[in-house]
Amino acid sequence: MGFDPRVDLGRGLVLPNPIGTASGTFGYGFEAEEMGSLIGLGAVYTKGTTLHPRQGNSPPRISETRAGMLNSIGLQNPGVDVVATAYARRWLDWRVPVVVNVAGADQDEYVRVCERLSGAAGVAGLELNISCPNISHGLDFGTDPGRAAQLVAAVRRVTELPLLVKLTPNVTDITEVGRAVQDAGADAVSAVNTYVGMKISLPERRPVLRGLGLAGLSGPAIKPLALATVGRLRRSLLIPIVGIGGIASSRDALEFMVAGADAIQIGTANFYRPGIAVEVARECLEFAAGEGLAGWGDLRQLEPVDSSRS
Ligand SMILES: Cc1cc2nc3c(=O)[nH]c(=O)nc-3n(C[C@H](O)[C@H](O)[C@H](O)COP(=O)(O)O)c2cc1C
Repeated sequence: MGFDPRVDLGRGLVLPNPIGTASGTFGYGFEAEEMGSLIGLGAVYTKGTTLHPRQGNSPPRISETRAGMLNSIGLQNPGVDVVATAYARRWLDWRVPVVVNVAGADQDEYVRVCERLSGAAGVAGLELNISCPNISHGLDFGTDPGRAAQLVAAVRRVTELPLLVKLTPNVTDITEVGRAVQDAGADAVSAVNTYVGMKISLPERRPVLRGLGLAGLSGPAIKPLALATVGRLRRSLLIPIVGIGGIASSRDALEFMVAGADAIQIGTANFYRPGIAVEVARECLEFAAGEGLAGWGDLRQLEPVDSSRS
């Protein structure tokens, strides 16, 4: 039997390969389309989309750190109407599935955005960002298993689209939230969003990024943390996991699959190497051929151990 590079994230969302680009680091895919660098990608996960257009926070809102970056963009996006009409129409012609990342200030906003996107041909799936550290109240859903489950159940009622839930690592036990959203009807989870961080300007005696000074840390600095989190989730969930965090090479991506990721997303690395995701996808496929794998699952070493759920 030949190697099957596809990945099934549930409810009909089948990616041509596991390697996608992470929300907020790849826009809505149009720049990549112009550069011809969509070909070979497994999925595009869009910028977080809200009901109304948002300008985001005032600059500075990104800053480099020793092994990554901090951001406090604050969900700049054109609003769901533009995404569900003009943008979705363009995605219809693409081979690469586009998963729209969704954010909201409250449950009602999430539900309305998802409902609007459900009617839009061209949208392959939804990724609920219940974990944005850069808007007020944005973290509440992701840190509370009960509220997270309620939100997922409410969204599930208004859409038949594949539903991914993006988890925050800024919690004591991410598996509790993971299990709650799994039980509430999520088809897959994405893990992880950024870690809360801060950078200080010593001359100015204040945080570099405005507001509370808190921002989201991403990039190589978080890779071991994210790997550990994916491993923990793999041991307690039965649904697919999309691994994210500091992935910048095919080796990184393959390591996430060993730890239990079914698919992966590349974020920060897009900023310094546009086109990296396509390269990583190609190299992963070469690796699979060289190793004689039958499917990506052959790489996995960690399996669910929660016997009460099997
Ligand atoms: C500038 C920037 C903007 C981001 N915007 C979003 C967003 O709108 N929604 C979301 O779910 N995640 C967002 N993220 C988080 C990334 O999708 C990803 O989870 C995180 O950066 C970790 O992956 P990485 O280390 O490969 O960057 C953003 C990250 C960055 C760096």
